[in-house]
Amino acid sequence: MTVAKTQETSIQGKGEVSAMNRMLLVPFGTLFSLVALAAAAGQQPAMPKYFVNSPLCKMPYVDPFSADVMAIYKKIKLKDCHNDSELVTAEYDPKLKQYRVHTRLDLARKMAKENVTLECGYQKIYRDGNATIPDDAYRMSKVIPLTDNLVVPNDVEYITTRCFLNSSNSKNHKSNITQRDAMTFVQDHLTPEELVHSFRLLNDEQDPKPNVIILGIDSTSRINLRRTMPQVLRFLKNLPGWFEMQGYNKVGDNTLPNLLAILTGDNHVENIEAGKFKVRGFEDSLDYIWQHFKEAGYTTAYAEDCQSLSTFNFHKPGFIRQPVDYYLRPFVRAIEKTLKLERRFETIFCVGRHISSGYVWDFAVQFVQRLLEETPMFGVFWSNSFTHNVFSAGSAMDHLFREYLLLLLKLGLFKRSIVLLVSDHGYRFGNIRTRTKSGYLDERLPMMWLYVPPWFRKKYPHYVANLRKNRNRLSSNYDVHMTLQHILQLNTRSHEAFDARIKAKKCPNCRSLFFELPENRSCSEAGITEKWCTCHPTTTVTNRTQYMAVARAVVQGMNQHLVAKKLTHLCENFQLNSVEVMDRKEILGERSTTAATEHVYVLNFQTVYKKPKFEATVRWNPRSSTLKMNVDELSRKDSYSATAKCVKDSLVKKYCICKKLPGKQHK
Ligand SMILES: *[C@@H]1O[C@H](CO)[C@@H](O)[C@H](O)[C@H]1NC(C)=O
Ligand SMILES: *[C@@H]1O[C@H](CO)[C@@H](O)[C@H](O)[C@H]1NC(C)=O
Ligand SMILES: *[C@@H]1O[C@H](CO)[C@@H](O)[C@H](O)[C@H]1NC(C)=O
Ligand SMILES: *[C@@H]1O[C@H](CO)[C@@H](O)[C@H](O)[C@H]1NC(C)=O
Ligand SMILES: *[C@@H]1O[C@H](CO)[C@@H](O)[C@H](O)[C@H]1NC(C)=O
Ligand SMILES: *[C@@H]1O[C@H](CO)[C@@H](O)[C@H](O)[C@H]1NC(C)=O
Ligand SMILES: *[C@@H]1O[C@H](CO)[C@@H](O)[C@H](O)[C@H]1NC(C)=O
Repeated sequence: MTVAKTQETSIQGKGEVSAMNRMLLVPFGTLFSLVALAAAAGQQPAMPKYFVNSPLCKMPYVDPFSADVMAIYKKIKLKDCHNDSELVTAEYDPKLKQYRVHTRLDLARKMAKENVTLECGYQKIYRDGNATIPDDAYRMSKVIPLTDNLVVPNDVEYITTRCFLNSSNSKNHKSNITQRDAMTFVQDHLTPEELVHSFRLLNDEQDPKPNVIILGIDSTSRINLRRTMPQVLRFLKNLPGWFEMQGYNKVGDNTLPNLLAILTGDNHVENIEAGKFKVRGFEDSLDYIWQHFKEAGYTTAYAEDCQSLSTFNFHKPGFIRQPVDYYLRPFVRAIEKTLKLERRFETIFCVGRHISSGYVWDFAVQFVQRLLEETPMFGVFWSNSFTHNVFSAGSAMDHLFREYLLLLLKLGLFKRSIVLLVSDHGYRFGNIRTRTKSGYLDERLPMMWLYVPPWFRKKYPHYVANLRKNRNRLSSNYDVHMTLQHILQLNTRSHEAFDARIKAKKCPNCRSLFFELPENRSCSEAGITEKWCTCHPTTTVTNRTQYMAVARAVVQGMNQHLVAKKLTHLCENFQLNSVEVMDRKEILGERSTTAATEHVYVLNFQTVYKKPKFEATVRWNPRSSTLKMNVDELSRKDSYSATAKCVKDSLVKKYCICKKLPGKQHK
């Protein structure tokens, strides 16, 4: 009932709302965030000060529309990747339970402005499980004729298409048009017995299995979501059942550790630093939550755009065994290798005729459309392409992403499913980090929204009450991991009742968001290390003697690290250029004796060669002038892409400033 009603109002209001939003962008967003936060904290609508305010955690609220950010923010209008008609379209036939493709001779004739014939063919794409690196290998069949109304065979999951417009007048060059495209199909793999079993799991009176769909948008803080995607925010706000974890703090630097913490309960930073992820087969050996869902009778999916950036494949071999039932990787790899690419927002944005992330969202829609009534589903759908490098670029996709959410709503996803809209971190590098004060917080505070459907809210009101309380408590990726574990056994009534083996390895006390989180919780209790913790108040150190002493020690530590890692033949030695700012963190709850002997500093500085900008979080003993730091943990605030071409490891790329090699000068 509730869902149907919301659906109506949302869809009806669409045109008006988007027109209104364009005019009222800034005031509207501000108003919402103020009201929401104030309501959550039970205050008058006034400028809130904190996302979390407890004795052990004072996480500052960040105004998305502060003057320094708005000075560099630019709302971007989306340009499509093509401007001609689609000559091949596909539709799902729910009666036949198969896909059908259409070829559009009528449109072809309009396009060519003459009486052409249309000749189309397709090539099937599939993963080559026998290759040494199967995630990077794909195969394509020979060209198979594609005729109008063709029913797509059940073993075809991914295709590229090619259509020729052939003119009877062979001298007419204008009609020599070729159109290439690509599309996905979610085919049913279940046997009749499995279908019966799945149907029972879905429709169990006592304990129906909720679907779990995780929608990820890379590099999007809760702050930047408000700035760049007001229409998506409206969707989240208008549909009852969404809860935003406003005290959510990341637990690692980039996508891999943060996503692993959610998917495996461990951020694996030691294994990343030790280079284990580069070993073929290592990624297969981890204990992923999708495997647990699979064992519980779910059908699983994982899709991510941008084949070179993608989480499990960026300078890594990826999975040897296909990790889930529906795996988009071979398709993404194939289309990025065979279709025309167009770069926008400093990444590959158009792949052939479509937006890169559109393939991921289409796949999510197909997954839901195809399996919603058949089997419990667990799916992760992650987009990198538009938000990874440019902090304003989310604004270009705001309307389109909301359209996808509305489509999922129309398909019935929100009736029975738990949905997460998440990010891995905020902006890690670029102008928002180097030029704004809030960049430090933006990087550390990814968005984390959790939706629970009407039946869940009715059946588990106490879980919902806890979700509401937890919105303004400190939470982390490990709590999200435990929430996913909890979904598999919703009748578990306390954290203590969970089997020790499924508790998050890096944070055994981290708990499902359906349980109340401790009000007075510290970062270490939430599995968040000092480097990423946003709970501690900071004060700027203005004594130059003090900050220069720390900065010199940091640079010395970085040079020693290059020696220890045997990188001095590749990477330039560091020399301090300048200190931008050094803040001292007041560690709440720390014993005063420790605080007196060991200070925690966040140092922002620049070194000489190529002028890279770094941020280091270090411990400094002012009496003995000794430093504790982990160079692998260093943040690089400007892009490393131009300075790190000589190394492959993404950790090393952050700090290695490649030497100009004498032999390569004339290349
Ligand atoms: C249509 O797209 C083509 C190729 O992408 C481009 O060259 C052309 O300028 C576009 N035309 C319009 C009207 O946008
Ligand atoms: C277009 O061409 C087809 C065969 O190539 C022919 O059968 C048809 O009559 C033609 N139509 C027109 C309007 O010329
Ligand atoms: C992999 O090798 C096996 C055995 O030779 C073969 O049956 C299978 O078809 C191959 N798979 C692919 C994707 O080529
Ligand atoms: C295009 O049409 C001409 C004349 O109708 C025919 O001879 C030729 O084989 C066609 N070309 C292709 C590539 O099918
Ligand atoms: C047009 O298409 C025909 C058949 O595919 C090809 O032989 C010819 O070279 C093409 N002409 C141009 C100008 O591309
Ligand atoms: C919060 O926790 C700290 C450390 O456990 C403790 O010292 C402090 O008294 C607690 N404060 C409140 C208000 O519970
Ligand atoms: C600055 O720091 C140094 C070293 O800690 C100290 O000796 C000096 O007195 C400080 N200067 C001021 C003005 O506080």
